[in-house]
Amino acid sequence: MIESLSTLSYSNAEKLAWQFLLAARNLLEAPDARHAPFLTFDRQMQRVVASEVLSDNSCLWLDSNDQWCRSPQIPAIFHAMFDLYLPVLGGTDKSLRTVAHLGQSIDAQIAARSGDSFYVTGEENRKHLHCLRALSDAVIVGAGTAMADNPQLTTRAVAGKNPVRVVIDSQARIHQPLGIFDDGQAKTILIHQSSADLGERALAFGPQLKNEQGSSSHQVERWVVPNTDEQLNVQAIIDLLAERGLQRLFIEGGGITVSRFYRADVLDRLHIAVAPLLAGKGIGALQLPGIDVLADAHRPPFAMYQMGEDILWDFDVSVAKSDTGLAGDAEMATDARGTLPKPQPSVKRIF
Ligand SMILES: NC(=O)c1ccc[n+]([C@@H]2O[C@H](COP(=O)([O-])OP(=O)(O)OC[C@H]3O[C@@H](n4cnc5c(N)ncnc54)[C@H](OP(=O)(O)O)[C@@H]3O)[C@@H](O)[C@H]2O)c1
Repeated sequence: MIESLSTLSYSNAEKLAWQFLLAARNLLEAPDARHAPFLTFDRQMQRVVASEVLSDNSCLWLDSNDQWCRSPQIPAIFHAMFDLYLPVLGGTDKSLRTVAHLGQSIDAQIAARSGDSFYVTGEENRKHLHCLRALSDAVIVGAGTAMADNPQLTTRAVAGKNPVRVVIDSQARIHQPLGIFDDGQAKTILIHQSSADLGERALAFGPQLKNEQGSSSHQVERWVVPNTDEQLNVQAIIDLLAERGLQRLFIEGGGITVSRFYRADVLDRLHIAVAPLLAGKGIGALQLPGIDVLADAHRPPFAMYQMGEDILWDFDVSVAKSDTGLAGDAEMATDARGTLPKPQPSVKRIF
């Protein structure tokens, strides 16, 4: 069957690779993942199943060290999708996995100055966002994004479960009705910091919001998280989510929120999709403190993916910053321009 995979059209191969990734997600949630670790395409049922034995139709499996392995004969799109998404999924150890994404113009803006962000990147990259949601337990956005975009944060473009939706609204600024509070498509958690003035609103941990009609919505919870200074403690948010079993976290924007997670050093992967457009001064992407010399710049390992007209940079930011800047890497030889001699990856096509 592996041979017959090479005859699949690009779009069918992409759909089948996605089925394998969803099956991998289910496998990690199964109590007995070790019992049937070989993800195999069942021709009769026309779907991916977990089987006890390795066969010609097995494309992806967990080895005895809980590492993902794949058949070398799978098509290029399988390799590209497994390379991009398996690190987001992680292994059976149920440890925290965090990925953040921003879609920016070539001049590093995620929205026009009015806040309009429909759309910076193309349809293929937006499908990628839905894939990240489907592989994650929770999708996190800042108050700015919730108010500007009124997003659904569901997985409409691909098969897969909707994640829990988390909005960081530290000062309890959101008063307008938003779809995520009453569409019933997934649970929504609204997070405030303890110094926020909640007025009439309940202060206790975990109460439910009232919807517009005044009835209690079981889908919405309000959490109050301690703040040490003016900002919410990102680690405290992560700890609370992990206590509720939400360990695979996708930080979807905007620039302020992704920057805070990056600066707190809690991200495993940082996805920056660069679109071929110039937006002029609008709403900035990453906002980080400056450095005096470029030798101190963070240069994480990366891979690149083509998504329609956009290029996605997949940075492995789990590597300690001190190990990836030139200053922290004195032992590695540098070329004439002072850049690290990393192998330049090719751009792999996705979608
Ligand atoms: N192209 C893309 O990838 C993309 C993605 C998402 C959004 N967008 C666009 O980006 C714009 C919004 O982005 P933005 O950067 O202005 O705002 P944002 O990141 O969506 O929200 C920022 C707000 O979130 C709260 N917040 C988040 N983390 C916090 C923390 N650790 N501690 C305290 N508060 C925290 C704060 O709310 P308070 O101010 O209430 O304290 C902060 O002002 C919109 O125009 C949206 O359309 C683009």
